[in-house]
Amino acid sequence: MTQDELKAAVADKAISEIQSWLERDTVLGIGTGSTADLFIDRLGPLRDQFKGAVASSEASTQRLKSLGIEVFELNSVGTVPFYIDGADEVNANLQMIKGGGAALTREKIVAACAERFICIADHSKYVAQLGHFPLPVEVIPMARSYVARELVALGAEPVYRQGVVTDNGNQIIDCFNFMIDDPVAMEAKINAIVGVVTNGLFAARGADILLLGKADGVERIA
Ligand code: 5RP
Repeated sequence: MTQDELKAAVADKAISEIQSWLERDTVLGIGTGSTADLFIDRLGPLRDQFKGAVASSEASTQRLKSLGIEVFELNSVGTVPFYIDGADEVNANLQMIKGGGAALTREKIVAACAERFICIADHSKYVAQLGHFPLPVEVIPMARSYVARELVALGAEPVYRQGVVTDNGNQIIDCFNFMIDDPVAMEAKINAIVGVVTNGLFAARGADILLLGKADGVERIA
């Protein structure tokens, strides 16, 4: 199976996971990226079975709306029963690196408000140790150089993601060659640097369920 077929398989499985829970007043939390897009596409035909969605990016908002799914402000919703999103890396503890699509901050906010985080990923994302994928850090633009120096002090090789402005008007630094031994501690340490909005480690609040697409089917890890 191709990577795209595996992504489609986990998107299908995520629909099976949530469908029986959908009610007229259900608002779902929706992530960002190519895997999340496939999930959004599968939600379209179900739009009459739930109230709407909170999205983690402008891109996902537009895709949801194009399918006739109402998109709500998180502040008007409170909590969501499920947050469904992809990942750039995920480990056996269901801790993740996210933010390859620069949506990490809003993703982390919606995930924080979710009763259950369902991570949907193909098996290429499943790793023994987080850090092969460069860890994204969203920064306030004027703090970029300062934050980069602090990241060097932590052992990373920071690279400014040129030409990218996040939905929040900020910039992204990617941390290369930065294998992470203790994801919870490193998430907190990077977030404590002045000028960091958030980093792409989803460790303190990881996923609750991982739907992992493999050649022999979708494995459910919880
Ligand atoms: C966006 C993300 C995505 O979830 C992550 O990049 C995975 O994307 P894809 O499903 O396209 O592989 O964190 O900020």
